[in-house]
Amino acid sequence: MEISEDQFTTQVMKHLFESRGIDLSGYSQSFMIRSIRRRIGRSGRSDYATYLHHLLSSDEETNELLGTLSINVTEFFRDRGAFETFSRTAIKPLLESKTGSGGLLRLWSAGCATGQEVYTIAICLAQELSRLQREQRMLTSILGTDISSAALAKAKSGVYTKEEMRGLPDKFLAEYFDHTGDKYVVGSQLRKGVRFSRENLLDKPGSKFFDAIVCRNVMIYFSRAMHDKVTMNLYDALKTGGYLMVGRTETLMGPPRALFEVVDLENRILRKK
Ligand SMILES: C[S@@+](CC[C@H](N)C(=O)[O-])C[C@H]1O[C@@H](n2cnc3c(N)ncnc32)[C@H](O)[C@@H]1O
Repeated sequence: MEISEDQFTTQVMKHLFESRGIDLSGYSQSFMIRSIRRRIGRSGRSDYATYLHHLLSSDEETNELLGTLSINVTEFFRDRGAFETFSRTAIKPLLESKTGSGGLLRLWSAGCATGQEVYTIAICLAQELSRLQREQRMLTSILGTDISSAALAKAKSGVYTKEEMRGLPDKFLAEYFDHTGDKYVVGSQLRKGVRFSRENLLDKPGSKFFDAIVCRNVMIYFSRAMHDKVTMNLYDALKTGGYLMVGRTETLMGPPRALFEVVDLENRILRKK
């Protein structure tokens, strides 16, 4: 059965909304069609109807399509000022509060895409530790999660091209990365305590008691109902007094907003009351 381009995009958007809570109604139809056509070709399907059938029954194809729609776009220090402020207003006091307690500092990058955000947090942590002249051995852990297995595989490998290294200040390149041929590889100091796992933010979090969560540029694609659900999941996963940083263009709305106090409005750093 043939379907029109309009019917096709409506069905694809409905599927992404219902299966992943992702709201692409703000995307231009021509951009979506161009991206989806690329997937139709790569998946070996030749028309809208057969591709739609494939998409609706395949979790993997849904992930691939989201990847093609550039929803995994990320970079090191995406918004450098925000990470500098996060280091100063969240990581530093957290590290200081652990002095002498022997406690473990637990951070979560929720929706970490290909991992640059996780390693950015690891650099912020290493820098603050050395500023405080604390042993790098202090127990810290950073969890990176995403819904896309392909993005996570890349994150785990920690191998990036020059283009994927964009955003990283030069001073950190020599200190934390190995350079072989045209590849940059995350060094062992940054990998320590880092782990990745596949998680859907719409589900109850797999781990709790985080000292801080970074969830940036993820909720922009969510419907209002999904936004509230994810915010509540993040809230539940934080310790009391734990920090949450969302993207600079993102705002907590509705009931979840009252559960946090603002630490830095411009950089969207909040704290669980
Ligand atoms: C634009 S990237 C943001 C990456 C990074 N946080 C940053 O700011 O650079 C959004 C990521 O959210 C992930 N994502 C989308 N919906 C998700 C969900 N329901 N659960 C977990 N991750 C999700 C996507 O796979 C993608 O990797």
